[in-house]
Amino acid sequence: MDKMLLLLFLGLAAEICSGLDNGLARTPPMGWLSWERFRCETDCTTFPDSCISEKLYMAMADKMVELNLKAYGYEYVNIDDCWPAKERDPETGKLVADPDRFPSGISALADYMHARGLKLGIYEDFGVQTCAKYPGSEFYMEIDANTFAEWKVDMVKFDGCNSDPNDSPYGYPTMQFYMNKTGHPMLYSCEWPLYESKKHDYPLIRKTCNMWRNYGDVTDSWESVTSIIHYFGNNPQNFSTFTGPGGWADPDMLVVGDFGLSYYQQKAQFGMWAMFAAPIFMSVDLRTITQEALAILKSKDVIAINQDPLGIQALRLYAVPNSISVWVKPLVDNSTAIAFLNENNEGRPTQLKTTLSDIGLKNSNGYNITELFDGKAMGMYKPTSPFDVLVDPTGILLLKAVPM
Ligand SMILES: *[C@@H]1O[C@H](CO)[C@@H](O)[C@H](O)[C@H]1NC(C)=O
Ligand SMILES: *[C@@H]1O[C@H](CO)[C@@H](O)[C@H](O)[C@H]1NC(C)=O
Ligand SMILES: *[C@@H]1O[C@H](CO)[C@@H](O)[C@H](O)[C@H]1NC(C)=O
Ligand SMILES: *[C@@H]1O[C@H](CO)[C@@H](O)[C@H](O)[C@H]1NC(C)=O
Repeated sequence: MDKMLLLLFLGLAAEICSGLDNGLARTPPMGWLSWERFRCETDCTTFPDSCISEKLYMAMADKMVELNLKAYGYEYVNIDDCWPAKERDPETGKLVADPDRFPSGISALADYMHARGLKLGIYEDFGVQTCAKYPGSEFYMEIDANTFAEWKVDMVKFDGCNSDPNDSPYGYPTMQFYMNKTGHPMLYSCEWPLYESKKHDYPLIRKTCNMWRNYGDVTDSWESVTSIIHYFGNNPQNFSTFTGPGGWADPDMLVVGDFGLSYYQQKAQFGMWAMFAAPIFMSVDLRTITQEALAILKSKDVIAINQDPLGIQALRLYAVPNSISVWVKPLVDNSTAIAFLNENNEGRPTQLKTTLSDIGLKNSNGYNITELFDGKAMGMYKPTSPFDVLVDPTGILLLKAVPM
C-alpha cells in the first residue's frame, strides 16, 4: 500500500478511539429490518401476512433459523415504525404496542427472538411523533429507555422526524444517557446527522451512537443504491475516518432479494456495503426469497470483508464518470480488498487497464488475487505488471489481494 494511502488510513486511528463505550457493535451489526420492504402497512385484514405485526417478525425469525442465516452473522430482527398504539398508557406514560397487531406484547416478542439465539430491535423517534405519526419520545426519553430495557430489547433505532433538526446534538445524546442508565445494553442506531443541515459533529456522533445514518433512505432501485455509493465515495467531512469498532456509518438497508435490482446490481450493493464496513440489514421477505438472492446474502468471503476487525470504511481512489470506480479497504491480515464498481450499462462488460501499483499496492513480491463472490483464484501479480479487469454492466468485481 502506498505511503499516502497508508497515512490517510492511519490518520483515522487517532480519531476512532473515543467511540460509544457499551461493548456493542465491535464489528458491523447484521440482521433484518422491516422498513424498506414492509413499510407501514397496518391493515392486517387485507394483508395478514405482510402487515406490521408480531406475526411478521416471528415469521422472519423462523426463516432466519430455517435458512441458517445466524451462522453467517445475521442476528438482529428489527421492528421499524408503526408498531405502537396511537396513544401512550394514560397512567404511566409508557408506550404500548398496538394491541391488535402485537397481542402478545414486545416483551414476549423479545423472548421469542432470544429463544432462537436472535435479538430484537425496536424503533422510536426523538421528536414529538414518529415519521408515521405514532407517539414520539420527546419529553419521554427516560420512560421509553426504561420500557425498552424492561422488555429486554437489544437495539433501538432512533429516528428524527417531527423534531427540530438543530436539536439532534442534544436529543440523541440524551436518549443515549437514559439507555446507558438502564444498565441493559442496547445497540443504538441513530438517524443523526441525517436531519441536520449544518456541519456535523462526527466526534460527538461517534461517542453517542453505534451506527448513524447520514444520507437519505434507500429505496428499491439502482439509482437509489448508486446515489448512496456516490455519497460514501465523496466522503464529505471525511466521515469515513469516524467509522470503526463500536460505531459505523450506515448507508441504510440492503434491497437484495427485492424487486428493483438485477442480480448483478444486488451483488454490487452487497459488495459495496461490505467495503463500507456498513451495518448489514436485509429488508426482504425471507419466505419467498430466491436461491440466487440468498446465495448473495450468504457470500461468506464477502461478509468477512464487512466484518474485518480493523473496521475500515473503503475509500474511493478514483471514478471514471458513468463507468468504473475503484475502491480499497485495508484488512487486518495486511491484505487489501479491492472493488471495481461499474456504472456503465451499455450491455457488455467494461474493461479497465490498470496495475496493482496504480491502486496503491506496491509490495515487490507481488500479490495473490482471489475473486470473493465465487472464490475464483485469479493468480499472482507483481505491482507493475498489467492488471486488466472486466466488470459486468452495473455490476461489481470484488477482489482480495494477499501480499506474498
Ligand atoms: C454505560 O457507560 C459506561 C461508561 O461509558 C460503560 O462502561 C457501560 O458499559 C455502559 N452501560 C451500558 C448498559 O451501556
Ligand atoms: C479530508 O482528508 C483529506 C486528505 O487527508 C484532506 O486533504 C481534506 O482537507 C480533508 N477534508 C476535511 C473536510 O476534513
Ligand atoms: C502485517 O505487516 C506488519 C508490518 O509489516 C507485520 O509486522 C505483521 O506481522 C503482518 N501481519 C500479518 C498477519 O502478516
Ligand atoms: C493463492 O490464492 C488461491 C485462492 O485464490 C489459493 O488457492 C492459493 O493457494 C494461493 N497461493 C498462495 C501461494 O498463497
